[in-house]
Amino acid sequence: MVKLALNMLYVSILETIIENIDAGVHVVNSEGKTIFYNEIMGELEGLDIDEVMGKNILEIFPSLCEDTSTLLTVMKYRKPIYNKNQSYLNNYGKQINTINSTIPFRISPEKYGAVEIAKDITKVKELSEKVHILQQELITQDPEKENVKGYTFKSIIGEDDEFLNMISYAKTASKSSSTVLLYGETGTGKELFAQSIHYASDRSNKPFIAQNCAAIPDSLLEGILFGTVKGSFTGAINRPGLFEQAHGGTLLLDEINSMGLQLQTKLLRVLQEGYIRRVGGLNDIPCDVRIIATTNEKPEKAIELGLLRKDLYYRINVINIRIPPLRDRKTDIALLSEHFIKKFNTILRKDVWGISNEVKNAFFHYDWPGNVRELENQIESAMNMVTKDHILKANHFSNNMKGLFEGKKAGIDYKLVIHDSVTLNEALESIEIELINNALKECSYNITKSAKRLGIKRQSLQHKIKRYGIRIEG
Ligand SMILES: Nc1ncnc2c1ncn2[C@@H]1O[C@H](COP(=O)(O)OP(=O)(O)OP(=O)(O)O)[C@@H](O)[C@H]1O
Ligand SMILES: [Mg+2]
Repeated sequence: MVKLALNMLYVSILETIIENIDAGVHVVNSEGKTIFYNEIMGELEGLDIDEVMGKNILEIFPSLCEDTSTLLTVMKYRKPIYNKNQSYLNNYGKQINTINSTIPFRISPEKYGAVEIAKDITKVKELSEKVHILQQELITQDPEKENVKGYTFKSIIGEDDEFLNMISYAKTASKSSSTVLLYGETGTGKELFAQSIHYASDRSNKPFIAQNCAAIPDSLLEGILFGTVKGSFTGAINRPGLFEQAHGGTLLLDEINSMGLQLQTKLLRVLQEGYIRRVGGLNDIPCDVRIIATTNEKPEKAIELGLLRKDLYYRINVINIRIPPLRDRKTDIALLSEHFIKKFNTILRKDVWGISNEVKNAFFHYDWPGNVRELENQIESAMNMVTKDHILKANHFSNNMKGLFEGKKAGIDYKLVIHDSVTLNEALESIEIELINNALKECSYNITKSAKRLGIKRQSLQHKIKRYGIRIEG
């Protein structure tokens, strides 16, 4: 009896150590089947504990064989391998570098199992590589090299066919000086396209100036665009306008549909004649400026509503680029998310590798009214919430995004959960998460009651809550 109690105590101590130690632990029995696998190991290898437990090592890692698996090798030769450097890509495509020690242990006189302990040295390796790159840059730095400050086509991320067509059309457009009309909902990347066109053109060494036409009343906007002459109105001074300042370069007129109709007439005249006249001035000043105008309202609709003059529309619509909203190119969400995670890993000094299946699924079904800007902001905000996780989960997202995860709580919409890019396992996981969330809420976040409601053990519920990163309110 005493021995049994002592055994249980040892098991409990061991479990606590293994769960909390800052290293991955993987234990296999004499048949090579996993009998223990901790969360850190799961994070390193990008696998869930459930995917690994009870399975043979060669089944989990089909690329390994008896001779290449360190666990199987030490079992076979009954000799440990200490501090072996390993480098591999995990399920999230992240390069992982570890130092592993693999040690056999005796189960019976004939039977041996093995334990592998992995220490993550990815960060150290990345840092040492960064130092190396910086040193190289210092050596080869060219003082004459000018840095392009703005966006270029390289900054535009996307793989949707229609979107790629737009990019190649915009690239072609950058070779001319014709006026461009960019249409896209808010946050679709109009500024990104406008700057990329400028920096790919032979005007790239001349100024790129952007002016939002919605932010300023027409009376002031006129002076800002065309300049003023001293005395033309109270307080006016001799000042060049943006057309003069952008000479030789590009002027972005953002939200042209918000410019008053009278000013639109003046703009049309300038575009047709190629001269500007400062407010209150008498001289015609020649200007060589490429105009890129944007509208976040469909141009046809803006004309119908009397917000955009038809004649100006025909004049500026020489090259017409329509950027599709994010909800119409959902295949780009994954790529953009990856891009923003990388960006904010650097800015926020985090080490996030990817997003959970639940978040992926929710992202896919969301409408994204704020388009790419909204996606970028959501990822930035979630990454601020990450402390030691490597994966963005639902609980990292802010309250308004929570609505997205709980949107269909009245009943599970299976049709919505299963779609082309989601596997059966991922779909089942999101159903499981939804059921757990519902049960938790119904039972006021009491774990024992919720587990009963779900018909599972308390420990399994706790395990699932931890695994899916479900937040316990209250
Ligand atoms: N395809 C893309 N790849 C990478 N980043 C993008 C992409 N599209 C948009 N972004 C990012 O989203 C944000 C919003 O883009 P941008 O300012 O160009 O949108 P916009 O269409 O001008 O919006 P608004 O109409 O509100 O002015 C920026 O931070 C931009 O870098
Ligand atoms: Mg903009």
